[in-house]
Amino acid sequence: MSEKTIKIGLCGFGIVGQGVYSHLTGKQAFLREQLGATLEVARIAVRDLQKPRDVAVSSSLLTTDPMSIAEDSEIDILCELMGGTGLALDVTLAALRSGKVVVTANKALLCDHGAEVFTAAAEGGGHVLFEASVAGGIPVIKAINEGLIINDFTSIYGILNGTCNYILTRMTNEGLSYEEILKEAKELGYAEADESLDVDGIDATHKAVILAYLAHGRWVPFKDVLVQGITAVKQDDIAFAQENEYAIKLIAVIDRIHSNEKLYVSVFPTLVSKGYSLGNVDGVFNAISIHGDVVGQTVYVGPGAGRDATASAVIADIVDAAKHLIYGGSERRFPFLDPAPSNGETIELAEPSDIHSRYYVRLLVMDQPGVMAEIASVLASREVSLASISQKEVGGNATKASLFITTHKTSEQAIFDAMNDLEALASVEEKPFCMPIGAFKE
Ligand code: NAP
Ligand code: HSE
Repeated sequence: MSEKTIKIGLCGFGIVGQGVYSHLTGKQAFLREQLGATLEVARIAVRDLQKPRDVAVSSSLLTTDPMSIAEDSEIDILCELMGGTGLALDVTLAALRSGKVVVTANKALLCDHGAEVFTAAAEGGGHVLFEASVAGGIPVIKAINEGLIINDFTSIYGILNGTCNYILTRMTNEGLSYEEILKEAKELGYAEADESLDVDGIDATHKAVILAYLAHGRWVPFKDVLVQGITAVKQDDIAFAQENEYAIKLIAVIDRIHSNEKLYVSVFPTLVSKGYSLGNVDGVFNAISIHGDVVGQTVYVGPGAGRDATASAVIADIVDAAKHLIYGGSERRFPFLDPAPSNGETIELAEPSDIHSRYYVRLLVMDQPGVMAEIASVLASREVSLASISQKEVGGNATKASLFITTHKTSEQAIFDAMNDLEALASVEEKPFCMPIGAFKE
């Protein structure tokens, strides 16, 4: 009997696409031994045929028409590695409707169109695999879908964006400017084509929405997630964190609160104790702490972005898909076609008034009599209780000062209201910066 060949179409041959190609072809013999079949990259779609590439491929494989790969009956597995939510969605839906397996790293697409994509897969007989869409090389989707299948997920905390963690770590360790580090993160292939997706917290939110769906069966609309990126974090905040044994991390929280009645999803820069498992996860690494009612806490750490880490996750999905195509098996081999809690869509989303935390606040104020009293009065009027306050002169002429405040536990709504009131004061010189002080379940 002749050996089966599984044909793969790569839509996208950028950072991730080239990584997938080079590892798939470099380890083809090993994969053949594992699968008893050959994995062949048969077609590749790019935008620009003339662009110089790090990885050489025969020009006969290339096309500028990704849809032609989706419609090619010879292709078994389509890898959507272009990004975006326009053409990427059309290509994904077309491939799924024709019964192909789609492997995607595109978290924006799943966050915005996950329900539509999974419906197309179910109706068209296709499958969608997306391990690389969350936390790069960490197999966290497999962990939730398979290894932790018996658990209800009470809390998930994650460092989900490699670029932001890389920037925050180097700002902390080397005192470098944000712009300098972002440029390097782009050169290293960590950042999105549009880096504002990273630094504004949008990419981490896409991933948090996917994790919330996997854990709770509900697609939380992006607009209902409270999101703040890292662009307002300054060296002053980093100094405060270090002096107080914290690290600043962009943390996604997916929490069931009020005896599991409500679901809370947010992404904020957060003061994380260095003693907590996520507090020492640095550089491009991601980490996810998952609390299951049966297992307790499990923590996953690994490279969260970049060519090789992402290729590792994409290839794991390709191999799973190949096994399915070679050996067959029930639809339930792919658990996401049978989302965990079937009542997910009825879970109520938490409001800011449901959430309570301690907060850190930095203010730039006029350094003159009465300002401190005015600020204390605003906080008191919103029932925000001060835990500590310190002041640092700004510049040499003592006309301005930075104030660093920590609060006792207060509601998210109260702190948001207080921030708006403070911003409106004539003595407050710039938009106040505020972040939660993490209190994580261990
Ligand atoms: P990238 O380097 O910008 O590569 C995108 C590729 O898609 C390029 O080869 C580009 O062609 C091709 N492309 C874009 N629009 C196209 C179109 N209209 N027609 C044909 N080809 C088109 O991006 P990437 O970093 O590899 O990311 C790809 C996906 O993986 C994104 O969804 C991203 O969010 C996700 N992801 C990335 C990482 C990471 O660390 N980079 C990690 C996890 C997930 P040209 O090369 O000709 O421009
Ligand atoms: N830009 C993303 C990050 C890539 O930095 O985490 C991995 O999803």
